Amino acid sequence: MANEKKIALITGANKGLGFEMAKQLAQTGATVVLAARDPQKGEAAAALLKGQGFDAHFLKLDVTKPADHTAAAAFFEKNFGRLDILINNAGIASEGLGGGKASTTPTEVMRQIFETNYFAPVALTQALLPLIRKSEAGRIVNMSSILGSQTLHADPKSPIYDFKALGYDSSKAALNSFTIHLAHELQGTKIKVNSAHPGWVKTDMGTDAAPMEISEGGKTGVQLALLPEDGLTGGYFHLGQALPW
Ligand SMILES: NC(=O)c1ccc[n+]([C@@H]2O[C@H](COP(=O)([O-])OP(=O)(O)OC[C@H]3O[C@@H](n4cnc5c(N)ncnc54)[C@H](OP(=O)(O)O)[C@@H]3O)[C@@H](O)[C@H]2O)c1
Repeated sequence: MANEKKIALITGANKGLGFEMAKQLAQTGATVVLAARDPQKGEAAAALLKGQGFDAHFLKLDVTKPADHTAAAAFFEKNFGRLDILINNAGIASEGLGGGKASTTPTEVMRQIFETNYFAPVALTQALLPLIRKSEAGRIVNMSSILGSQTLHADPKSPIYDFKALGYDSSKAALNSFTIHLAHELQGTKIKVNSAHPGWVKTDMGTDAAPMEISEGGKTGVQLALLPEDGLTGGYFHLGQALPW
């Protein structure tokens, strides 16, 4: 394994943080599989990295489609026989600015957010786990958000106290719960599972109002994807700092 290239899958990698993390992982010598639901956008993103000399591939994967999970597992089985790094990055924040009030958010909106931000990463991880178990150093990174922190949301002194959107925030809190539960179950294996908060980053989701450049925003997920053998598991991090759940 020491001399073998790491095989990484990043969901929602056609743009934003997903593309950035794929690029940063490719720069470390990893083989990167850029997953996207839109084949044209995904092919173009992979071609951009290939054009820079990196080992990049495209995989069609709508994270909400169980058939795509099965196809993804078959892809890694056939082409690599294992998966070393899974970054569950694809996410949506469809409540919009000023939306997401606890008193009025429609259940249907919350269901849609949970489909992508919670049920999808859980189901995809379950489908790929047999291949991650075949890795010498499996790493699962769940792209959460500081907005998934219950502790900070409950603290009037925290910087996120007034940034509340029920659907998005609770979906990321649920994703954090998955991190904790899966890491507990995988104790004693070579697999590490962690949640990442990238920062508030300039992407389509983060908007231009965000203070953090995308190159910086990609770092937390990549650090967790490349954790050494003695690295932590079952944690929630931003740039190496632990966040309260
Ligand atoms: N930007 C921030 O400040 C920030 C802060 C905290 C956490 N995060 C988290 O970081 C992750 C990436 O965010 P971002 O800022 O890069 O957002 P973004 O620019 O909006 O990109 C989101 C990506 O997810 C993909 N996606 C959405 N639904 C999908 C589905 N059903 N199947 C496959 N792909 C799907 C999108 O694909 P399409 O192009 O096809 O829509 C896109 O590639 C998200 O999980 C987000 O919650 C971001």
